[in-house]
This record gives sequence, C-alpha cells and structure tokens, in this order.
Amino acid sequence: MFIKKRPGWALSHSDVTPESVYLNRRKFMAGTIAVAAGLSVPSLVSSAARPVPGEALDYVAMPGFSTDEEKTPYDDVTRYNNFYEFGTGKGDPARYADEMSVTPWSVVVEGECDKPGTYALEDLLKPHDYQERIYRLRCVEAWSMVIPWIGIPLADVLKQMQPNSRAKYVYFETLHDPEQMRGQRSMFSTIDWPYQEGLRMDEAMNELSFLAVGLYGKTMPNQNGAPIRLVLPWKYGFKSIKSIVRIRFQEERPRTTWEMLAPQEYGFYANVNPEVDHPRWSQKRERRLPSGLLSPNWIETVKFNGYGEQVAHLYKGMDLRKFY
Ligand code: MTE
Repeated sequence: MFIKKRPGWALSHSDVTPESVYLNRRKFMAGTIAVAAGLSVPSLVSSAARPVPGEALDYVAMPGFSTDEEKTPYDDVTRYNNFYEFGTGKGDPARYADEMSVTPWSVVVEGECDKPGTYALEDLLKPHDYQERIYRLRCVEAWSMVIPWIGIPLADVLKQMQPNSRAKYVYFETLHDPEQMRGQRSMFSTIDWPYQEGLRMDEAMNELSFLAVGLYGKTMPNQNGAPIRLVLPWKYGFKSIKSIVRIRFQEERPRTTWEMLAPQEYGFYANVNPEVDHPRWSQKRERRLPSGLLSPNWIETVKFNGYGEQVAHLYKGMDLRKFY
C-alpha cells in the first residue's frame, strides 16, 4: 500500500545510484584497534574501520523498500527520542547521549550458532554494502515518523553467524554502562538494565528487518542508537533496540524489557495493530511528526504499519489479540 511494488533486489545498481558513487563506496574508515577478546573465533577482529560520528556514508538507495511519504525533518528525528538509558524526557537523549563513547565497539555473538565470538563492529559490517531504506516508525505512544535509515538487512548479518537448527529466537541487548548512561544510574529508573529485545527467527530473517548504522546519509547520531541498532518497521518502535552489544541465538523465547515491566501493556510481538488498543489509549490513530498543538497531524494507523504484504504471513493462524 505505502511500499512501492518493485522489490529493491529487482533493481540494477545503475537504477538507483550513480555508478561513480556505487564504485566508490566507502565503508567505515580504516584505522583502529578493536577491543575484542574472541571467544571461540579469536581471529575475527581486524584493525580496519572505525565508525566516525557524523561521517557521510555511501549507500545504494532501495526504492523497493522505501516509502515516498514526506520524510520527518532531521531535527525532529534526532531531537525527539526514546532512549531511556539517557533519561525519560524526549529531549534527554539528544542532550546526554554524547556521554557514551561508541568507538571502538564490539558485539558478542553467542548461543545456537556455528560462529560465536566477539566481533569488532567493523568486521560485522565489512562484507556488506550499505542500503538506504525509508521506513515509517510507529511508536507505541501513538506518534510516528518517516526516517531514511542507512544499514544492512539483518538476515545478511545473522547468516554470517551461521545459526543452527536449534536457533528458534534471536535475542539482542543494549550496552549496560551506568558510567556513560545516566539513565542507568538514576534511582528513579524502573528498568532492569540492560535493555533487552528479541525476535522469532523467521521475523529476524524477514526482508524488512534492518540493522541501521546511520540516517539521513550519515553515521548514526548517538541519541538514535549509535553505532548500530535494529529497525523493524511493522512493529512498535520499542522493538527497535539501540546500541546493540550482544546477539544470542536461543531455543526459548527471550523475555524483553517492556514485556517484563508491564506484560499486560506490552507484548513480545508488538506488531502495529489499530484493532488492539493499548489498555490506556487507542492505537487507531497516530500523530505524524512534526506535530504541534494547533496542527497535531493525526493520521489513521494501518495494520502492520502498512507492511502487511511483507509480514502478515508470519502471523497466519495466530490470534493477534492474544499475541500482541
Ligand atoms: N532502545 C534502547 N536501548 N532504549 C530505549 O529506551 N526506546 C525504544 C526504541 N529502542 C529504546 C530503544 C522506543 S520506545 C522507540 S519508539 C525507539 O527506540 C525510538 O527510536 P528513535 O529515538 O530513534 O526515534
């Protein structure tokens, strides 16, 4: 409905980006010492590539995975955030997230897979070309944005880790470092840190699931989840976990942060669904940002945030009132 019909993978590169840009694709720049003490794969760490904050990234545009709705301005995308590790106010992440250092960065991979280890971020990214996907983001709080993300399909990164047949779910975890994250040292915080999320394996492997390293053509601002975060456009925003440091493949369904905090309000699936209201407010409409008191910009919420064609089959036969 909102997504253009032609899938991105059906386009030739010359359709979507000038050849000079494509050939000259740059990845994160060379030159850092990676902090990584490989578990069973110690040689995974290389000396390549450190994400440079604010650096322009080269990427291939993916019209097949993009909406042509008006993009939310950069200032709103980067100043109206949820990142409780830096406070609960919408402006707190932009104010305080730069207290977190994102270089160097490594991701622990563990559980039911053939390639566990501690991966320097640049090693995870190196084999892949960046794509730009313009997705809608619908927060469970009933506001939404349209954001041009830069990143890599989640499936491509997970395949690198070679999950085995016992891997039914994948679990993600955010950095836990109260020294750098003032929200984690706040005595008012009710969250049991670190922030945790999870997906069923087939959801994770869906073509829409995306690991973003940037937005608006540049590396990710800290407040949006630098240096690497999940983007799952058919689910409420809280599933799109930021600043990921751990990925685990497992047989059992992981428990997730918001589900643990208020299970009657936030479920594991968290698919955008106007037919299932939040116990304290309606999910039938959303405020598309920017919005103000005089022009709240309410629009109708669409099931699966308009991505039903790509994901509805994942939930066939499931009662989505029960599995919210
Ligand atoms: N990830 C972590 N680690 N901590 C958070 O508080 N908030 C979630 C999600 N990811 C959150 C998080 C929520 S509620 C939303 S709506 C999105 O991030 C917001 O992403 P944005 O700030 O980039 O728009």
